[in-house]
Amino acid sequence: MKILISGGASGLGEAITRALAGETTNTVYFTFNSSETKATEIQKQFNNTVPIKCDFKNREDVVNLRHMISTLDLDILINNAFSGQPIKNHFHKIPVEDFTTEFQNNIIPTVEITQAVLTGFRKKKSGKIITVLTSFLLNTPPAGASVYVAVKAYLASLVKSWSVENSKFNIASNSISPSFMLSNLTKDVDERVIEQMIDSHPLKRLLSFEEVAEAVLFLSKASPQLNGVDIPINAGTNIK
Ligand SMILES: NC(=O)c1ccc[n+]([C@@H]2O[C@H](COP(=O)([O-])OP(=O)(O)OC[C@H]3O[C@@H](n4cnc5c(N)ncnc54)[C@H](OP(=O)(O)O)[C@@H]3O)[C@@H](O)[C@H]2O)c1
Repeated sequence: MKILISGGASGLGEAITRALAGETTNTVYFTFNSSETKATEIQKQFNNTVPIKCDFKNREDVVNLRHMISTLDLDILINNAFSGQPIKNHFHKIPVEDFTTEFQNNIIPTVEITQAVLTGFRKKKSGKIITVLTSFLLNTPPAGASVYVAVKAYLASLVKSWSVENSKFNIASNSISPSFMLSNLTKDVDERVIEQMIDSHPLKRLLSFEEVAEAVLFLSKASPQLNGVDIPINAGTNIK
């Protein structure tokens, strides 16, 4: 399978790239922004991977990626990249411009990439989209995360529209909602808060990238009958 993952050189994305590249019949195209060294390491280790520089804040990068997508004959798209910090400030203190910026930096590039991919999927009547959301959408969202959670809620809605509009073309759109993981995105979370999270966690340990990558691997091989669903990866907390 030919797979494109955004933000596939670091954090959770790196684990997903490595898990998918471990299957030698896959070709994994992965975008990176700042993690060029890691991208080169991955490419050296797996000769079925292709790094692509794409900064979501750079118009030219996104336009180039859109054009490249039309030549790749992809089977799977994984929307993983996120640009920004999840915890900012209480809602009433966040400058209004931050909402526009986060939308522009995250939603618009994802929309453009997904539109380009779907054009190819619809022509060949097959394809899968897997989008990384957050368990903050299911659990009680932490204070200060309103912009991040709103961006992910917007994506969650798109995931369903992609599913409804494309299921008859044998295209599945699903999402995963992982709970807290230690990554660059969460590096500023206070040590004591992390200790509390581990202490109150049912398994007494935080979720690892590899555990989430396993779920993505499963979705990458799943039947198109599995469509329009979200898989929470939160150790059974806040089951609805
Ligand atoms: N960590 C958590 O607790 C958690 C929980 C649930 C869901 N998630 C989701 O998991 C996904 C991966 O996050 P992570 O935890 O692995 O954090 P991360 O290590 O910060 O990963 C963010 C990814 O996005 C890419 N990225 C950042 N800025 C970008 C930009 N301007 N343009 C294009 N790509 C950019 C990064 O690429 P470079 O490294 O190359 O810059 C990186 O691969 C995100 O969608 C996040 O919302 C995370």
